[in-house]
Amino acid sequence: MIDPTKDIVLLAIESSCDDTAASIMVNGRVMSNRVATQLVHKEFGGVVPELASRKHQVNIIPVVDVALKEAGISPGELSAIAYTRGPGLLGSLLVGASFAKGLALSLGIPVIGVDHLHAHVMAHFIDDPKPAFPFLCLLVSGGHTQIWRVDSPVSLILLGQTLDDAAGEAFDKAAKMMDIPYPGGPEIDRLSAGGDPEKFTFPRAKTGGLDFSFSGFKTSLLYFLRDQMKKDQEFIDRNKPDLCASIQNYIVSYLLDKLQQAVDETGITEVCIAGGVSANSLLRKRFTSLGNRLGWNIYVPDFQYCTDNAAMIAMVGHFYFLESKFQGQDAAPYARTKY
Ligand code: KG4
Ligand code: ZN
Repeated sequence: MIDPTKDIVLLAIESSCDDTAASIMVNGRVMSNRVATQLVHKEFGGVVPELASRKHQVNIIPVVDVALKEAGISPGELSAIAYTRGPGLLGSLLVGASFAKGLALSLGIPVIGVDHLHAHVMAHFIDDPKPAFPFLCLLVSGGHTQIWRVDSPVSLILLGQTLDDAAGEAFDKAAKMMDIPYPGGPEIDRLSAGGDPEKFTFPRAKTGGLDFSFSGFKTSLLYFLRDQMKKDQEFIDRNKPDLCASIQNYIVSYLLDKLQQAVDETGITEVCIAGGVSANSLLRKRFTSLGNRLGWNIYVPDFQYCTDNAAMIAMVGHFYFLESKFQGQDAAPYARTKY
């Protein structure tokens, strides 16, 4: 039974890209976590922004409805509504933000705009064990590759990030070059099984500090495949597991070397990975063995909290609620990261 004077009951909505997600959280505990994935983009080999916003409009009410029913919560019991304010596709963000604001207005409750990247990092607070502050987080998704130092639930410092493509983008673009369907990351992961990760090597960009760059890798892979295909039309098909395993090895090694550098530079040994690419099996395995070898306390998110979900938005919403950090109805969504 909900006690409106004590309990914090949140509805959270995530609609930054191509997934429409809703979650109910009561006092920091996930009661439901629903995602409607949009399959319409598959035939285009990437997310089509206009189609994504239209699909969000179709999906948002049924997804919220199911999340409420599964949690056994009625709209009247909600304390606040959290939604993804940015970064993301503006049209997609607008659907979630407008829905959240409209519903909150009609219920007379506050809205909480949540940063999507902050939410990926705080996904580690949904389940136990939770990292202790300060901790480092390697956030690797389709749009971002960053290393954060997290000092409290609401204060994060960016230590390094990609100067061009994100790690997930590198996976997806490499897959596209080999005619592997979108999203390529999970497919490359699957196809790598049994492949030789050392068979093909690619040059690594020399970025300073804790920054990354993946655009040179993309170009070198493109030219390498083009040259090989000129000699042998079947090259990609004949070498798919080795190509996938080598690409995966390249991306994962690069990410972990920089993460190790961040640990060395900060002396912080509480270390997390987060975001869609943290679902990658090699990254999870190598991160775990590296952390164990070097004596870090490591945190790997549950699969359902790696890729986009609304429970992580609810988690940040919960921390903001505790600090009464609400925003007005006029808070506009933002497409690009504010960090
Ligand atoms: O965090 P996310 O769901 O959405 C964004 O905020 O971008 O991340 C999606 C990215 C895509 O690039 C996808 O290919 C990648 O995560 N991804 C993976 C795996 N699962 C998802 N990349 C490599 N291996 C995986 N198993
Ligand atoms: Zn994401």
